[in-house]
Amino acid sequence: MKLGLFGYGTIGRGVYTLVDNLKEKYNLELKRVFDLPNKKEILGDKLVTDINDIINDDEIETVVEALGGHDLPYQVISGALNKGKNVITSNKEVVSAHLEEFLSTAHKNNCSFLFEASVGGGIPIIRSLIDNSKINEINDIFGILNGTTNYILTKMSDENLSFEDALALAKKNGFAEANPTADLEGLDGVRKINILSSLAFQGNISNDDIYHYGITGVNKAILDDIKARGYVLKFVASSHRDGNDVTIRVEPTMVPQGHPLSAVKNEFNSIMFTGSTNDDLSFYGKGAGSIPTASAIIADLVAIVEGRGYIEYSNKNKLNVNTKKVNTGNYYIVHQTNDAEIVSDVSNESLEAAKFYARVL
Ligand code: HSE
Repeated sequence: MKLGLFGYGTIGRGVYTLVDNLKEKYNLELKRVFDLPNKKEILGDKLVTDINDIINDDEIETVVEALGGHDLPYQVISGALNKGKNVITSNKEVVSAHLEEFLSTAHKNNCSFLFEASVGGGIPIIRSLIDNSKINEINDIFGILNGTTNYILTKMSDENLSFEDALALAKKNGFAEANPTADLEGLDGVRKINILSSLAFQGNISNDDIYHYGITGVNKAILDDIKARGYVLKFVASSHRDGNDVTIRVEPTMVPQGHPLSAVKNEFNSIMFTGSTNDDLSFYGKGAGSIPTASAIIADLVAIVEGRGYIEYSNKNKLNVNTKKVNTGNYYIVHQTNDAEIVSDVSNESLEAAKFYARVL
């Protein structure tokens, strides 16, 4: 099978390496790579700088989109699917915004659209969720879905690194987005929990409707105080469905020391979902980084080669997403004076006036 790769950055390089390792076993040939002209020295004749050189190449059956961002990836994915090419992507921004459209375009054109790497890096969560939602009703999804922020919180808490130094290391290791604001403010988590929730609840959800609050207000004193209270701070995404009513949130969350999420460190992610027949399922693995993410892409590629590339999806449910902050239960609030307290059933005004806050599990 001949392949085209869009993007030779952190993820694209991992894909290039893994395809090379498996090319004989699965009869793969990476024919062309789209990137900027400055990659000529590394990529030689494989390099193309016009997306149409891949989209219009009839020999290329499958493309991997590893560009990041929205507009160009959208053009690439739509263009390739409309030409009947299989598309594999790790791009949660574009998948979360166009999931239903891409899957129906793929079905119409008898090709596959797969996106295992868009959530949880190397964790096989998408396929597991899809398979399980056929036999279970899944109403709860909960977990750590962002590697960069988990890495920052771990390094600050366990190794006394500053926020800035921890972020710089996350960037250097290839965990952070090109613009890490998406990681820090929770938008990356929003996109990932949206993809999981849409698949599990079988309905469209807009990223704009998902409540999120970021971790940029965290400092060492806050983390020490949280530790002294017997908790660990984690950046948690959660989604709950009750009929067609859905509450989704991405927010800093204090988990008790000893809670399974408290042991999830560095760039690791952990995702739990609850099914009506098989109860709690939990997944753990590297949520960011070149090779873990590329392995999920390669798993999709092998699924296509083996004829397992079809994803059934229906957006049959009209979901009502609660767009407001839902702050029942306990909240840890750091006031502008730096005093901190745990408060029950706090008002939205108090949260807005706070210097930093976290939900308390
Ligand atoms: N920036 C993302 C993260 C990459 O840190 O989780 C993987 O999606």
